[in-house]
Amino acid sequence: MMKFANDRDLAPSFREAMSRLAAGVTLITTCGSEGQALGMLATAVSSVTADPPTILVCINRTASIHRDLTASGVFRANFLAEDQYEVAECFASSKKRESRFQVGQWKTEPSGAPALIGAIASLDCKLTEMVDIGTHSVIFGQVVSINLGHDDSDPLIYYARNYCSLASSSRSGRVERSADIKSAAM
Ligand SMILES: Cc1cc2nc3c(=O)[nH]c(=O)nc-3n(C[C@H](O)[C@H](O)[C@H](O)COP(=O)(O)O)c2cc1C
Repeated sequence: MMKFANDRDLAPSFREAMSRLAAGVTLITTCGSEGQALGMLATAVSSVTADPPTILVCINRTASIHRDLTASGVFRANFLAEDQYEVAECFASSKKRESRFQVGQWKTEPSGAPALIGAIASLDCKLTEMVDIGTHSVIFGQVVSINLGHDDSDPLIYYARNYCSLASSSRSGRVERSADIKSAAM
């Protein structure tokens, strides 16, 4: 009979394997019950279907945004450009929570979820479904409006526990780490 490792045995190699999956960097934003701007950084973001246009984001239930996002039922996924590394950092650490919307330029959209100016794209979503798995909620959002940034901007990428950019060699299909990379703890 085939023997499977238990969850705890797999945890370190699971983390290592997932660190090898390159991902775009997204800021998830929403609006709190008193109108305050809230946000966090996520890489667990994916397209689900174009009909109806739907994305998903996996959010840890301990994240400060979780309660307000699920209560308001609205969120925005801002896909970061490579030069928005400093904005990313603020949204990835609870220590920098208070300064989150002081970096970058922001615009308030009708839904209340802030849009980051200069993002390569941002999608305004209404929450349609949520499934809790382990520590996280998988949150499905139907896209209600889209802002497209300049199509000559490159994305900010997270790979091997580092922020990376597509180097000029990306045209040949090769990804290089940018010179100003810093590590970030998940
Ligand atoms: C590169 C990177 C990717 C992350 N992706 C996710 C994610 O997809 N889902 C999640 O819940 N947390 C993710 N995090 C962690 C949150 O961004 C981080 O814990 C944040 O501080 C949560 O907001 P809070 O401090 O206001 O609770 C990620 C962190 C980093 C550095």
